[in-house]
Amino acid sequence: MQVAVITSHFFMLLNIAIKVVENEMNKILWLLAGGLLSPLLLTKMVLAKTVELTSPDGKIVVAISDDKNPSYRIEMAGEVAITKSSLGLRFKKSAELGEGFTISKVKRHSVDSSWQQPWGERKTVNDQHNEITVTFSHTREKSNHFNVIFRAFNDGVGFRYEVPKQKGLAGDIEITNELTAFAVSDANNSTAWWIPSRGWNRYEYLYQTSNVESVDRVHTPFTFKYPSGLHISIHEAALVDYAGMTLQQQRGGILKADLTPWSDGILVKKKAGFTTPWRTIQISKDAVGLLNSDLILNLNEPSKLEDTSWIKPGKYVGIWWGMHVGENTWGSGDKHGATTSETMRYMDFAAEYGFDGVLVEGWNIGWDGDWYFNGDVFNFTKAYNDFDMKAVTKHGHQKGVKLIGHHETSGNVTNYRNQMNDAFALYQKHGISQVKTGYVADGGNIKRIDKNGIVRKEWHDGQFMVNEYLHNIKQAAKYNISINTHEPIKDTGLRRTYPNWIAREGARGQEYNAWGSPPNPPEHAAILPFTRMLSGPMDFTPGTFDMGFKGLGDKSDRPQTTLAKQLALYVVIYSPIQMASDLPRNYLANMPAFQFIRDVPTDWAESKAIAGVVGDYVAYARKERNGNDWFVGALTDEKARNLTLKLDFLDKSIRYQAQIYRDGKKANWIDNPYEMIIEQKEVSYQDVLMLPLATSGGAAIRFKALN
Ligand code: NOJ
Ligand code: CA
Repeated sequence: MQVAVITSHFFMLLNIAIKVVENEMNKILWLLAGGLLSPLLLTKMVLAKTVELTSPDGKIVVAISDDKNPSYRIEMAGEVAITKSSLGLRFKKSAELGEGFTISKVKRHSVDSSWQQPWGERKTVNDQHNEITVTFSHTREKSNHFNVIFRAFNDGVGFRYEVPKQKGLAGDIEITNELTAFAVSDANNSTAWWIPSRGWNRYEYLYQTSNVESVDRVHTPFTFKYPSGLHISIHEAALVDYAGMTLQQQRGGILKADLTPWSDGILVKKKAGFTTPWRTIQISKDAVGLLNSDLILNLNEPSKLEDTSWIKPGKYVGIWWGMHVGENTWGSGDKHGATTSETMRYMDFAAEYGFDGVLVEGWNIGWDGDWYFNGDVFNFTKAYNDFDMKAVTKHGHQKGVKLIGHHETSGNVTNYRNQMNDAFALYQKHGISQVKTGYVADGGNIKRIDKNGIVRKEWHDGQFMVNEYLHNIKQAAKYNISINTHEPIKDTGLRRTYPNWIAREGARGQEYNAWGSPPNPPEHAAILPFTRMLSGPMDFTPGTFDMGFKGLGDKSDRPQTTLAKQLALYVVIYSPIQMASDLPRNYLANMPAFQFIRDVPTDWAESKAIAGVVGDYVAYARKERNGNDWFVGALTDEKARNLTLKLDFLDKSIRYQAQIYRDGKKANWIDNPYEMIIEQKEVSYQDVLMLPLATSGGAAIRFKALN
């Protein structure tokens, strides 16, 4: 029972314990003390109010209260998920929306609907939730009301602030602090998987595993597990025109919103009458439950693009790995990768083996010298002399293969913006419908030139760049171009609203196995699904067939997976575009294994995570969008294990040929990464497969429908 008694400054204090139930009692009681006291002792009593919101299945309960400060807490099946946590905003020029506010109104609403994705992990997404809009008010004249809208789903909670235009909050508004907190009840004994925020390497850090209490500043999705096994992941949805939210621990277990600032220190700049992105808390009794959630997508707006038929999922190869392993260069010279003849050679390979596109990096002027620092000189419409865009796109057209464009900005976004429309127009003219962008620059070092000609340096995840990335997506849409953003802002589900935002990087990808120091460790791909991947598709670029490009000797300096695990990645790490990232010759040298990459689709009717423990292993089953085949990918960390795979996800009326690619008996990533067994078996939904996974191994299966 929450009771607070507040007296206005000249009235007497009176302690009365009353459980306040919404709508049953007016929260402000005026009491005459038995008529014995003079009207001067009239007591204004304000009772703290708590309102509750329950998920459709009744298991999740959100309690929103105005006891001292606006706050919320969340329980799942009687267990505390988030303990009492603050809500509120602070501004540069007006008084805080927080302390002293009380609940003055609530409005409720429920939704039970579904919608369809043009591409995705599943075709139909169900959106079932209960919503409450809680109005917090203050007795003062100005800056005296705001709403918090909560939605409770069966798999978590989202909430956002809605600040109406009002006296004291009119015109330009600068946010200096978001008071939102996520308090963890047993931080010392809860395990978290996280990457640090506000660092030079953006989102490309190795995941750390620690108790919650030892984290300082972290990116979201921030995933942790209570000792009971309850899994939580904190993130945000629909990050539009606002700073990215990272988290900073305040004191044991209180993770507070830590918005990434502008170069001038302000966190967020808004016009009066604004809403914030949704703060999201996914909750599940086990790790796998986190994976089977559409909460983030459901909190995004429906598509703003009416016609999405030009947005095509697919597989691609590219003039890419050669640069990362040092066989080619982006810049001009003897080893220049992006030549007309090399592009045609890749297009022939792509056509022969069923790929849709060929990515070509290093085609445009600006790569010479140290391209990391060439942001000022990149030209997005001028090709090197040895790259003939017209000839290669014509060749591709004849072969049924598209050129995939590339815009590396090296972090000078003004230079890019000045050329953006011309650059897209050029690509559209040549029939290019997908572009990979890049923003290689250290965190906090994105260069922009403001309207006064002054150079400013911004973070990749501050409000300026949040807007810049989206501007790029919206412009691209005008030219029917889809974007795959590297060094991106994290995903917050905006692919629902802008389905041409087809993929992004935003974590350590496969490229770290070429030059990363260290490369991605065996546990990396067993952590990603439960962290980064909760936010949306990733262009991870799997498919390394030659682990020995630097020799197999130094284990600390090469890909730390088996070959079968490379295949599993195509199913585990979701993206509507998947790259076969190795050199064509390495695929030609192992055609039986390559067959799986040729067969695996990238667009799904249904997806189900079927097993997994964060950082240990994971298994997914996905059904192709346009057919009856199912695919499974399973992978493990450094520990070999046997996975028992029940096939009960398969359609009951269909028999399947299981085409299994799994680690050989003696396979292990350290000294036998290639040994693989490829076998076929006829199976049905009643069968169970035993899959031995080697150290950092995996399994990939196509269930080919036979009837
Ligand atoms: C970083 C990207 O992640 C990588 O894929 C690309 O090759 C380089 N930037 C160059 O643009
Ligand atoms: Ca990168």
